[in-house]
Amino acid sequence: MGLTTTPRQSLTVVDNRTGKSYELPITHNSVLATDIKNIKAEPAPEDSPEDETKQGLRVYDPAYMNTAVVQSKITYINGLEGILRYRGYPIEQLVQKSNFLETAFLLIYGELPTESQFGNWQDEISHHTFVHTDIEGLLKSFRYDSHPMSMLTAAFATLGAFAPEANPSLRGQKLYTNAASGDLESLQVLDKQILRILGKAPTLAAASYRMRQGRPFNRPAQGLSYTGNFLHLLDTLSDRDNYKPHPVLEKALDALFIIHADHEVNCSTATVLQVGSSLVDPYSVVAAGCAALYGPSHGGASESAIRMLMEIGSPANVPSFMADVEARKRVLVGFGHRVYKNVDPRSTAIRQLADEVFKVTGRNQLLDTALELARYARESEFMKSRKLYPNVDFYSGLIYQAMGFPLDFYPVLFAVPRCVGWLAHWRQQMLTPGGVKIWRPRQLYLGSGEREYVDARDTREKKDGKLADAPVAVSHGGDSKRSLLAAKKVRARL
Ligand SMILES: CC(C)(COP(=O)(O)OP(=O)(O)OC[C@H]1O[C@@H](n2cnc3c(N)ncnc32)[C@H](O)[C@@H]1OP(=O)(O)O)[C@@H](O)C(=O)NCCC(=O)NCCS
Repeated sequence: MGLTTTPRQSLTVVDNRTGKSYELPITHNSVLATDIKNIKAEPAPEDSPEDETKQGLRVYDPAYMNTAVVQSKITYINGLEGILRYRGYPIEQLVQKSNFLETAFLLIYGELPTESQFGNWQDEISHHTFVHTDIEGLLKSFRYDSHPMSMLTAAFATLGAFAPEANPSLRGQKLYTNAASGDLESLQVLDKQILRILGKAPTLAAASYRMRQGRPFNRPAQGLSYTGNFLHLLDTLSDRDNYKPHPVLEKALDALFIIHADHEVNCSTATVLQVGSSLVDPYSVVAAGCAALYGPSHGGASESAIRMLMEIGSPANVPSFMADVEARKRVLVGFGHRVYKNVDPRSTAIRQLADEVFKVTGRNQLLDTALELARYARESEFMKSRKLYPNVDFYSGLIYQAMGFPLDFYPVLFAVPRCVGWLAHWRQQMLTPGGVKIWRPRQLYLGSGEREYVDARDTREKKDGKLADAPVAVSHGGDSKRSLLAAKKVRARL
Protein backbone atom coordinates (compact mmCIF):
# COMPACT_ATOMS: atom_id res chain seq x y z
CA MET A 1 0.00 0.00 0.00
CA GLY A 2 1.42 3.36 -0.99
CA LEU A 3 1.76 6.04 1.61
CA THR A 4 -0.62 8.97 1.18
CA THR A 5 1.07 12.29 1.68
CA THR A 6 -0.76 15.29 3.07
CA PRO A 7 -0.36 18.20 0.68
CA ARG A 8 1.73 21.05 2.08
CA GLN A 9 -0.43 24.05 3.02
CA SER A 10 1.71 26.51 1.13
CA LEU A 11 2.10 28.32 -2.15
CA THR A 12 5.35 28.19 -4.12
CA VAL A 13 5.97 31.17 -6.33
CA VAL A 14 8.89 31.78 -8.63
CA ASP A 15 9.94 35.37 -9.27
CA ASN A 16 10.91 35.30 -12.95
CA ARG A 17 12.84 38.53 -12.47
CA THR A 18 15.36 36.81 -10.18
CA GLY A 19 14.68 33.10 -10.64
CA LYS A 20 14.22 32.87 -6.87
CA SER A 21 11.51 30.65 -5.45
CA TYR A 22 9.46 31.46 -2.36
CA GLU A 23 7.21 29.31 -0.27
CA LEU A 24 4.31 31.18 1.32
CA PRO A 25 2.33 29.46 4.09
CA ILE A 26 -1.41 29.11 3.45
CA THR A 27 -3.69 29.56 6.48
CA HIS A 28 -7.50 29.54 6.17
CA ASN A 29 -7.03 29.41 2.40
CA SER A 30 -5.16 32.72 2.40
CA VAL A 31 -1.61 33.99 2.08
CA LEU A 32 -0.21 36.93 4.00
CA ALA A 33 0.29 40.05 1.92
CA THR A 34 3.35 40.81 4.09
CA ASP A 35 4.90 37.53 2.90
CA ILE A 36 4.62 38.84 -0.67
CA LYS A 37 6.62 41.88 0.44
CA ASN A 38 9.62 39.63 1.01
CA ILE A 39 9.79 39.11 -2.77
CA LYS A 40 12.36 41.69 -3.81
CA ALA A 41 14.24 42.40 -7.02
CA GLU A 42 16.45 44.97 -8.67
CA PRO A 43 14.38 47.57 -10.55
CA ALA A 44 13.71 46.82 -14.22
CA PRO A 45 14.53 49.61 -16.71
CA GLU A 46 10.81 50.43 -17.01
CA ASP A 47 10.34 50.70 -13.21
CA SER A 48 10.16 54.18 -11.72
CA PRO A 49 11.89 54.96 -8.41
CA GLU A 50 8.40 55.32 -6.93
CA ASP A 51 7.74 51.63 -7.71
CA GLU A 52 10.11 50.92 -4.80
CA THR A 53 10.99 47.58 -6.39
CA LYS A 54 13.81 46.87 -3.96
CA GLN A 55 11.44 47.26 -1.01
CA GLY A 56 9.37 44.28 -2.02
CA LEU A 57 6.44 43.24 -4.20
CA ARG A 58 3.12 44.99 -3.53
CA VAL A 59 -0.40 43.56 -3.77
CA TYR A 60 -2.66 45.73 -5.94
CA ASP A 61 -6.33 45.27 -5.14
CA PRO A 62 -8.44 48.35 -5.86
CA ALA A 63 -11.97 48.04 -4.44
CA TYR A 64 -10.83 45.08 -2.30
CA MET A 65 -11.88 42.50 -4.87
CA ASN A 66 -9.92 39.72 -3.17
CA THR A 67 -8.50 41.06 0.06
CA ALA A 68 -9.43 39.81 3.51
CA VAL A 69 -8.80 42.66 5.98
CA VAL A 70 -9.89 41.01 9.22
CA GLN A 71 -10.24 37.70 10.97
CA SER A 72 -13.83 37.72 12.16
CA LYS A 73 -16.21 35.45 14.05
CA ILE A 74 -19.35 37.49 13.40
CA THR A 75 -21.03 36.88 10.03
CA TYR A 76 -20.54 34.34 7.26
CA ILE A 77 -21.71 34.87 3.69
CA ASN A 78 -21.45 32.35 0.88
CA GLY A 79 -22.61 34.08 -2.25
CA LEU A 80 -22.56 31.03 -4.50
CA GLU A 81 -24.76 28.97 -2.21
CA GLY A 82 -26.92 31.86 -0.98
CA ILE A 83 -25.90 31.54 2.68
CA LEU A 84 -25.99 34.26 5.34
CA ARG A 85 -25.34 33.30 8.96
CA TYR A 86 -24.90 35.44 12.06
CA ARG A 87 -22.54 33.71 14.51
CA GLY A 88 -23.43 30.43 12.77
CA TYR A 89 -27.23 30.85 12.85
CA PRO A 90 -28.92 30.98 9.40
CA ILE A 91 -30.66 34.29 8.76
CA GLU A 92 -33.91 32.51 7.89
CA GLN A 93 -34.06 30.96 11.39
CA LEU A 94 -33.31 34.24 13.11
CA VAL A 95 -36.03 36.05 11.15
CA GLN A 96 -38.53 33.33 12.09
CA LYS A 97 -37.60 32.73 15.70
CA SER A 98 -35.59 35.63 17.10
CA ASN A 99 -36.22 39.34 17.51
CA PHE A 100 -34.02 42.29 16.69
CA LEU A 101 -32.65 42.94 20.18
CA GLU A 102 -31.85 39.28 20.75
CA THR A 103 -30.10 39.10 17.38
CA ALA A 104 -28.21 42.29 18.27
CA PHE A 105 -26.94 40.63 21.46
CA LEU A 106 -25.96 37.56 19.44
CA LEU A 107 -24.04 39.58 16.88
CA ILE A 108 -22.19 41.69 19.43
CA TYR A 109 -21.46 39.09 22.13
CA GLY A 110 -21.31 35.88 20.09
CA GLU A 111 -24.06 33.80 21.77
CA LEU A 112 -27.83 34.01 22.11
CA PRO A 113 -28.61 35.62 25.48
CA THR A 114 -30.02 33.72 28.44
CA GLU A 115 -33.39 34.93 29.64
CA SER A 116 -31.87 37.12 32.36
CA GLN A 117 -29.17 38.44 30.02
CA PHE A 118 -31.87 39.38 27.53
CA GLY A 119 -34.00 41.10 30.17
CA ASN A 120 -31.04 43.11 31.35
CA TRP A 121 -30.00 43.96 27.79
CA GLN A 122 -33.49 45.13 26.88
CA ASP A 123 -33.75 47.25 30.06
CA GLU A 124 -30.34 48.82 29.58
CA ILE A 125 -31.03 49.72 25.95
CA SER A 126 -34.39 51.28 26.73
CA HIS A 127 -32.70 53.15 29.62
CA HIS A 128 -30.39 54.76 27.08
CA THR A 129 -33.02 55.86 24.57
CA PHE A 130 -33.19 59.47 25.76
CA VAL A 131 -30.94 62.11 24.22
CA HIS A 132 -29.70 65.35 25.74
CA THR A 133 -32.07 68.18 24.86
CA ASP A 134 -29.16 70.05 23.27
CA ILE A 135 -29.01 67.26 20.65
CA GLU A 136 -32.63 68.03 19.88
CA GLY A 137 -31.48 71.63 19.50
CA LEU A 138 -28.87 70.50 16.97
CA LEU A 139 -31.49 68.66 14.92
CA LYS A 140 -33.83 71.64 15.06
CA SER A 141 -31.10 73.83 13.60
CA PHE A 142 -31.29 71.90 10.30
CA ARG A 143 -33.39 73.22 7.44
CA TYR A 144 -36.83 71.60 7.30
CA ASP A 145 -35.96 69.86 4.01
CA SER A 146 -32.55 68.46 5.04
CA HIS A 147 -31.91 64.85 4.10
CA PRO A 148 -32.52 62.71 7.21
CA MET A 149 -29.18 60.92 6.70
CA SER A 150 -27.34 64.26 6.98
CA MET A 151 -29.11 64.84 10.26
CA LEU A 152 -28.47 61.33 11.57
CA THR A 153 -24.78 61.40 10.64
CA ALA A 154 -24.30 64.79 12.30
CA ALA A 155 -26.26 63.72 15.37
CA PHE A 156 -24.08 60.65 15.94
CA ALA A 157 -20.89 62.70 15.57
CA THR A 158 -22.28 65.28 18.00
CA LEU A 159 -23.21 62.64 20.58
CA GLY A 160 -19.48 62.07 21.05
CA ALA A 161 -19.10 65.62 22.33
CA PHE A 162 -21.60 64.76 25.07
CA ALA A 163 -19.51 61.83 26.28
CA PRO A 164 -15.97 63.19 26.86
CA GLU A 165 -15.31 60.34 29.31
CA ALA A 166 -15.71 57.96 26.37
CA ASN A 167 -13.23 59.74 24.14
CA PRO A 168 -9.78 58.12 23.81
CA SER A 169 -8.36 61.44 22.57
CA LEU A 170 -9.15 62.88 26.02
CA ARG A 171 -8.95 59.82 28.26
CA GLY A 172 -5.97 58.03 26.78
CA GLN A 173 -5.65 56.06 23.62
CA LYS A 174 -5.93 52.66 25.30
CA LEU A 175 -9.35 53.50 26.75
CA TYR A 176 -10.97 50.70 24.73
CA THR A 177 -8.08 48.48 23.70
CA ASN A 178 -7.19 47.78 27.36
CA ALA A 179 -10.33 45.64 27.32
CA ALA A 180 -8.41 43.10 25.21
CA SER A 181 -6.31 42.22 28.24
CA GLY A 182 -9.37 41.83 30.48
CA ASP A 183 -9.40 45.34 32.01
CA LEU A 184 -12.88 45.56 33.54
CA GLU A 185 -13.06 49.35 33.58
CA SER A 186 -12.19 49.50 29.90
CA LEU A 187 -14.80 46.86 29.07
CA GLN A 188 -17.40 48.82 31.04
CA VAL A 189 -16.74 52.03 29.11
CA LEU A 190 -16.84 50.07 25.86
CA ASP A 191 -20.12 48.27 26.56
CA LYS A 192 -21.75 51.42 27.94
CA GLN A 193 -21.18 53.22 24.64
CA ILE A 194 -22.75 50.28 22.79
CA LEU A 195 -25.87 50.60 24.97
CA ARG A 196 -25.95 54.35 24.46
CA ILE A 197 -25.63 54.16 20.68
CA LEU A 198 -28.17 51.35 20.26
CA GLY A 199 -30.57 53.09 22.64
CA LYS A 200 -30.31 56.49 21.01
CA ALA A 201 -30.23 55.41 17.35
CA PRO A 202 -34.05 55.15 16.96
CA THR A 203 -34.55 58.38 18.92
CA LEU A 204 -32.20 60.29 16.60
CA ALA A 205 -33.57 58.64 13.46
CA ALA A 206 -37.15 59.44 14.46
CA ALA A 207 -36.21 63.03 15.29
CA SER A 208 -34.77 63.44 11.77
CA TYR A 209 -38.13 62.21 10.41
CA ARG A 210 -40.21 64.47 12.64
CA MET A 211 -38.07 67.46 11.65
CA ARG A 212 -39.11 66.94 8.04
CA GLN A 213 -42.73 67.12 9.05
CA GLY A 214 -42.44 70.00 11.48
CA ARG A 215 -43.73 67.79 14.27
CA PRO A 216 -42.42 67.93 17.86
CA PHE A 217 -40.04 65.16 18.88
CA ASN A 218 -41.50 62.35 20.94
CA ARG A 219 -39.98 61.07 24.15
CA PRO A 220 -39.08 57.34 24.07
CA ALA A 221 -41.72 55.01 25.49
CA GLN A 222 -41.01 52.16 27.90
CA GLY A 223 -42.63 48.74 27.62
CA LEU A 224 -42.47 48.55 23.82
CA SER A 225 -40.16 46.46 21.66
CA TYR A 226 -37.20 48.16 19.98
CA THR A 227 -39.11 48.60 16.73
CA GLY A 228 -42.38 49.30 18.58
CA ASN A 229 -40.70 52.21 20.36
CA PHE A 230 -39.24 53.37 17.05
CA LEU A 231 -42.71 53.39 15.46
CA HIS A 232 -44.02 55.32 18.48
CA LEU A 233 -41.21 57.87 18.17
CA LEU A 234 -42.04 58.30 14.49
CA ASP A 235 -45.79 58.33 14.63
CA THR A 236 -47.42 59.15 17.96
CA LEU A 237 -49.14 62.48 17.98
CA SER A 238 -51.18 63.15 21.08
CA ASP A 239 -52.33 59.85 22.54
CA ARG A 240 -48.93 58.72 23.70
CA ASP A 241 -50.02 56.41 26.52
CA ASN A 242 -52.35 54.41 24.35
CA TYR A 243 -50.08 53.99 21.34
CA LYS A 244 -49.77 50.40 20.15
CA PRO A 245 -48.13 49.75 16.79
CA HIS A 246 -49.87 47.37 14.40
CA PRO A 247 -48.37 43.93 15.26
CA VAL A 248 -47.81 42.92 11.62
CA LEU A 249 -45.99 46.15 10.81
CA GLU A 250 -43.97 46.00 14.02
CA LYS A 251 -42.97 42.40 13.26
CA ALA A 252 -42.11 43.24 9.66
CA LEU A 253 -39.91 46.14 10.71
CA ASP A 254 -38.28 43.94 13.34
CA ALA A 255 -37.54 41.30 10.68
CA LEU A 256 -36.12 43.94 8.35
CA PHE A 257 -33.94 45.17 11.21
CA ILE A 258 -32.64 41.61 11.75
CA ILE A 259 -31.87 41.25 8.06
CA HIS A 260 -30.06 44.58 7.93
CA ALA A 261 -28.15 44.19 11.20
CA ASP A 262 -24.94 42.94 9.63
CA HIS A 263 -23.50 41.87 6.31
CA GLU A 264 -19.86 41.02 6.86
CA VAL A 265 -17.20 43.53 5.78
CA ASN A 266 -19.35 45.62 3.44
CA CYS A 267 -18.49 49.21 2.51
CA SER A 268 -19.75 50.91 5.69
CA THR A 269 -18.39 48.21 8.01
CA ALA A 270 -14.99 48.44 6.33
CA THR A 271 -15.24 52.21 6.87
CA VAL A 272 -16.08 51.67 10.53
CA LEU A 273 -13.03 49.42 10.94
CA GLN A 274 -10.77 51.81 9.03
CA VAL A 275 -11.86 54.74 11.20
CA GLY A 276 -11.91 52.59 14.35
CA SER A 277 -8.29 51.60 13.74
CA SER A 278 -7.28 55.18 14.52
CA LEU A 279 -8.76 54.51 18.01
CA VAL A 280 -11.18 57.41 17.69
CA ASP A 281 -14.35 57.38 19.85
CA PRO A 282 -17.25 55.09 18.81
CA TYR A 283 -19.60 58.01 18.05
CA SER A 284 -17.24 59.22 15.32
CA VAL A 285 -16.91 55.62 14.17
CA VAL A 286 -20.69 55.23 13.77
CA ALA A 287 -20.98 58.64 12.09
CA ALA A 288 -18.37 57.47 9.55
CA GLY A 289 -20.38 54.28 9.02
CA CYS A 290 -23.48 56.41 8.34
CA ALA A 291 -21.57 58.52 5.83
CA ALA A 292 -20.53 55.39 3.90
CA LEU A 293 -24.02 53.94 4.03
CA TYR A 294 -25.56 57.16 2.71
CA GLY A 295 -23.91 56.62 -0.69
CA PRO A 296 -26.22 55.46 -3.50
CA SER A 297 -24.07 52.40 -4.21
CA HIS A 298 -24.59 51.14 -0.70
CA GLY A 299 -27.71 52.17 1.20
CA GLY A 300 -29.62 53.62 -1.72
CA ALA A 301 -30.70 50.59 -3.77
CA SER A 302 -34.13 50.10 -2.17
CA GLU A 303 -34.93 53.73 -2.91
CA SER A 304 -33.76 53.32 -6.53
CA ALA A 305 -35.93 50.21 -6.88
CA ILE A 306 -39.01 52.21 -5.91
CA ARG A 307 -38.05 55.08 -8.22
CA MET A 308 -37.77 52.55 -11.06
CA LEU A 309 -41.23 51.15 -10.23
CA MET A 310 -42.65 54.68 -10.26
CA GLU A 311 -41.10 55.15 -13.68
CA ILE A 312 -42.64 51.90 -14.98
CA GLY A 313 -45.94 53.22 -13.65
CA SER A 314 -48.31 50.26 -14.06
CA PRO A 315 -48.31 46.47 -14.60
CA ALA A 316 -49.26 47.04 -18.23
CA ASN A 317 -45.88 48.70 -18.85
CA VAL A 318 -43.85 45.81 -17.44
CA PRO A 319 -43.37 43.91 -20.76
CA SER A 320 -41.96 46.95 -22.56
CA PHE A 321 -39.66 47.79 -19.63
CA MET A 322 -38.46 44.18 -19.53
CA ALA A 323 -37.82 44.33 -23.28
CA ASP A 324 -35.43 47.21 -22.56
CA VAL A 325 -33.77 45.18 -19.80
CA GLU A 326 -33.38 42.20 -22.13
CA ALA A 327 -31.96 44.48 -24.80
CA ARG A 328 -29.50 45.59 -22.10
CA LYS A 329 -30.66 49.18 -22.30
CA ARG A 330 -31.78 49.15 -18.67
CA VAL A 331 -30.84 47.48 -15.42
CA LEU A 332 -33.54 45.94 -13.29
CA VAL A 333 -32.84 47.58 -9.95
CA GLY A 334 -33.50 45.27 -7.01
CA PHE A 335 -32.29 42.21 -8.92
CA GLY A 336 -28.87 40.57 -8.91
CA HIS A 337 -26.10 40.90 -6.33
CA ARG A 338 -22.31 41.17 -6.36
CA VAL A 339 -21.87 38.40 -3.79
CA TYR A 340 -25.07 36.34 -4.06
CA LYS A 341 -25.01 34.59 -7.41
CA ASN A 342 -27.86 32.41 -6.29
CA VAL A 343 -30.94 33.56 -4.44
CA ASP A 344 -30.33 36.34 -1.86
CA PRO A 345 -31.20 34.54 1.42
CA ARG A 346 -32.41 37.81 2.93
CA SER A 347 -35.04 38.22 0.23
CA THR A 348 -36.28 34.66 0.82
CA ALA A 349 -36.54 35.44 4.52
CA ILE A 350 -38.71 38.53 4.06
CA ARG A 351 -40.83 37.58 1.06
CA GLN A 352 -43.59 36.05 3.12
CA LEU A 353 -43.47 38.98 5.53
CA ALA A 354 -43.92 41.32 2.60
CA ASP A 355 -47.15 39.50 1.67
CA GLU A 356 -48.40 39.82 5.25
CA VAL A 357 -47.67 43.55 5.25
CA PHE A 358 -49.47 44.04 1.94
CA LYS A 359 -52.54 42.26 3.39
CA VAL A 360 -52.62 44.87 6.15
CA THR A 361 -51.68 47.96 4.19
CA GLY A 362 -53.59 47.07 1.04
CA ARG A 363 -52.22 47.00 -2.48
CA ASN A 364 -51.47 49.92 -4.70
CA GLN A 365 -50.42 50.46 -8.30
CA LEU A 366 -46.74 50.43 -7.37
CA LEU A 367 -47.03 47.14 -5.55
CA ASP A 368 -49.01 45.57 -8.37
CA THR A 369 -46.33 46.76 -10.78
CA ALA A 370 -43.61 45.25 -8.57
CA LEU A 371 -45.34 41.90 -8.29
CA GLU A 372 -45.94 41.76 -12.03
CA LEU A 373 -42.29 42.64 -12.58
CA ALA A 374 -41.15 39.88 -10.22
CA ARG A 375 -43.45 37.39 -11.97
CA TYR A 376 -42.22 38.46 -15.40
CA ALA A 377 -38.56 38.35 -14.31
CA ARG A 378 -39.03 34.80 -12.94
CA GLU A 379 -40.09 33.66 -16.41
CA SER A 380 -37.54 35.67 -18.36
CA GLU A 381 -34.82 33.57 -20.05
CA PHE A 382 -32.48 36.58 -19.84
CA MET A 383 -32.87 36.77 -16.07
CA LYS A 384 -32.87 32.98 -15.51
CA SER A 385 -29.73 32.38 -17.55
CA ARG A 386 -27.86 35.07 -15.59
CA LYS A 387 -29.19 33.84 -12.24
CA LEU A 388 -30.72 37.22 -11.47
CA TYR A 389 -33.12 37.00 -8.55
CA PRO A 390 -34.79 39.73 -6.50
CA ASN A 391 -32.36 40.96 -3.85
CA VAL A 392 -33.16 42.24 -0.37
CA ASP A 393 -33.62 45.80 -1.61
CA PHE A 394 -36.49 44.84 -3.88
CA TYR A 395 -38.68 43.54 -1.05
CA SER A 396 -37.48 45.92 1.66
CA GLY A 397 -38.20 48.90 -0.60
CA LEU A 398 -41.70 47.55 -1.23
CA ILE A 399 -42.36 47.02 2.48
CA TYR A 400 -41.11 50.51 3.34
CA GLN A 401 -43.27 51.94 0.57
CA ALA A 402 -46.33 50.00 1.69
CA MET A 403 -45.73 51.21 5.26
CA GLY A 404 -45.70 54.79 4.03
CA PHE A 405 -42.07 55.76 4.68
CA PRO A 406 -40.75 58.55 2.47
CA LEU A 407 -38.08 57.48 -0.02
CA ASP A 408 -35.24 59.42 1.58
CA PHE A 409 -35.90 57.70 4.91
CA TYR A 410 -34.97 54.27 3.52
CA PRO A 411 -31.23 54.64 4.22
CA VAL A 412 -32.08 55.68 7.79
CA LEU A 413 -34.13 52.50 8.16
CA PHE A 414 -30.98 50.66 7.10
CA ALA A 415 -28.57 52.65 9.30
CA VAL A 416 -30.45 52.14 12.60
CA PRO A 417 -30.17 48.33 12.62
CA ARG A 418 -26.73 48.40 10.97
CA CYS A 419 -25.40 50.19 14.09
CA VAL A 420 -25.47 46.68 15.59
CA GLY A 421 -23.16 45.25 12.93
CA TRP A 422 -20.85 48.26 13.08
CA LEU A 423 -20.58 47.98 16.87
CA ALA A 424 -20.10 44.20 16.77
CA HIS A 425 -17.16 44.65 14.40
CA TRP A 426 -15.82 47.65 16.34
CA ARG A 427 -15.96 45.71 19.63
CA GLN A 428 -14.23 42.73 18.03
CA GLN A 429 -11.57 45.12 16.73
CA MET A 430 -11.01 46.76 20.12
CA LEU A 431 -10.66 43.30 21.68
CA THR A 432 -7.97 42.21 19.20
CA PRO A 433 -5.32 40.41 21.25
CA GLY A 434 -2.11 42.43 21.17
CA GLY A 435 -3.84 45.70 20.27
CA VAL A 436 -5.11 47.40 17.14
CA LYS A 437 -2.81 48.29 14.28
CA ILE A 438 -3.81 51.40 12.39
CA TRP A 439 -5.16 50.58 8.91
CA ARG A 440 -2.79 52.24 6.50
CA PRO A 441 -3.03 50.91 2.94
CA ARG A 442 -0.46 51.78 0.31
CA GLN A 443 -0.87 53.01 -3.24
CA LEU A 444 0.83 52.53 -6.57
CA TYR A 445 2.15 56.01 -7.25
CA LEU A 446 1.87 56.79 -10.99
CA GLY A 447 2.32 60.57 -10.87
CA SER A 448 5.25 62.78 -11.82
CA GLY A 449 8.71 61.90 -10.67
CA GLU A 450 10.60 64.53 -8.66
CA ARG A 451 10.58 67.96 -10.34
CA GLU A 452 11.75 71.51 -9.56
CA TYR A 453 9.31 74.13 -8.35
CA VAL A 454 8.28 76.63 -11.07
CA ASP A 455 7.20 80.15 -10.13
CA ALA A 456 3.60 81.01 -11.20
CA ARG A 457 4.91 83.71 -13.57
CA ASP A 458 6.73 80.99 -15.56
CA THR A 459 4.06 78.29 -15.56
CA ARG A 460 2.19 77.49 -18.79
CA GLU A 461 -1.17 75.75 -19.23
CA LYS A 462 -0.86 72.17 -20.51
CA LYS A 463 -1.58 72.02 -24.28
CA ASP A 464 -3.01 68.51 -24.19
CA GLY A 465 -4.68 69.03 -20.81
CA LYS A 466 -8.05 67.40 -20.09
CA LEU A 467 -11.02 69.27 -18.67
CA ALA A 468 -10.43 67.89 -15.19
CA ASP A 469 -6.77 68.98 -15.13
CA ALA A 470 -7.62 72.44 -13.78
CA PRO A 471 -10.50 73.91 -11.78
CA VAL A 472 -13.53 74.44 -14.00
CA ALA A 473 -15.54 77.66 -13.83
CA VAL A 474 -18.44 77.36 -11.39
CA SER A 475 -21.59 79.41 -11.20
CA HIS A 476 -22.64 81.10 -7.99
CA GLY A 477 -26.28 80.53 -7.16
CA GLY A 478 -26.68 83.77 -5.26
CA ASP A 479 -25.19 86.09 -7.90
CA SER A 480 -27.51 88.83 -9.13
CA LYS A 481 -27.22 90.46 -12.52
CA ARG A 482 -25.92 93.58 -10.74
CA SER A 483 -23.09 91.78 -9.02
CA LEU A 484 -22.17 89.91 -12.23
CA LEU A 485 -21.95 93.20 -14.12
CA ALA A 486 -19.94 94.94 -11.41
CA ALA A 487 -16.29 95.53 -12.25
CA LYS A 488 -13.84 93.63 -10.08
CA LYS A 489 -10.47 94.86 -8.92
CA VAL A 490 -7.65 92.57 -10.02
CA ARG A 491 -6.54 90.79 -6.85
CA ALA A 492 -2.91 90.84 -5.98
CA ARG A 493 -1.30 87.45 -5.52
CA LEU A 494 -1.07 86.82 -1.76
C1 LIG B 1 -25.80 44.20 -7.87
C2 LIG B 1 -25.03 44.26 -9.20
C3 LIG B 1 -24.25 45.56 -9.24
C4 LIG B 1 -24.09 43.07 -9.27
O1 LIG B 1 -23.33 43.26 -10.40
P1 LIG B 1 -22.25 42.23 -10.89
O2 LIG B 1 -21.90 41.28 -9.82
O3 LIG B 1 -21.14 43.01 -11.47
O4 LIG B 1 -23.09 41.44 -11.99
P2 LIG B 1 -22.53 40.96 -13.38
O5 LIG B 1 -21.99 42.12 -14.14
O6 LIG B 1 -21.62 39.82 -13.12
O7 LIG B 1 -23.84 40.51 -14.11
C5 LIG B 1 -23.89 39.37 -14.95
C6 LIG B 1 -24.83 39.61 -16.10
O8 LIG B 1 -26.13 39.93 -15.63
C7 LIG B 1 -26.53 41.23 -16.09
N1 LIG B 1 -27.17 41.89 -14.95
C8 LIG B 1 -26.73 41.92 -13.67
N2 LIG B 1 -27.62 42.54 -12.89
C9 LIG B 1 -28.64 42.90 -13.72
C10 LIG B 1 -29.86 43.58 -13.48
N3 LIG B 1 -30.21 43.98 -12.25
N4 LIG B 1 -30.67 43.82 -14.51
C11 LIG B 1 -30.33 43.41 -15.75
N5 LIG B 1 -29.18 42.76 -16.03
C12 LIG B 1 -28.35 42.51 -15.01
C13 LIG B 1 -25.26 41.93 -16.50
O9 LIG B 1 -25.51 42.88 -17.50
C14 LIG B 1 -24.44 40.78 -17.01
O10 LIG B 1 -24.93 40.45 -18.28
P3 LIG B 1 -23.95 39.83 -19.43
O11 LIG B 1 -23.41 38.57 -18.84
O12 LIG B 1 -24.81 39.64 -20.60
O13 LIG B 1 -22.87 40.87 -19.60
C15 LIG B 1 -26.02 44.16 -10.38
O14 LIG B 1 -26.73 42.94 -10.31
C16 LIG B 1 -26.97 45.33 -10.42
O15 LIG B 1 -26.63 46.37 -10.95
N6 LIG B 1 -28.20 45.17 -9.86
C17 LIG B 1 -29.14 46.25 -9.82
C18 LIG B 1 -28.85 47.22 -8.69
C19 LIG B 1 -29.21 46.66 -7.34
O16 LIG B 1 -30.27 46.11 -7.14
N7 LIG B 1 -28.29 46.82 -6.39
C20 LIG B 1 -28.48 46.39 -5.03
C21 LIG B 1 -27.67 45.22 -4.71
S1 LIG B 1 -28.02 44.67 -3.06
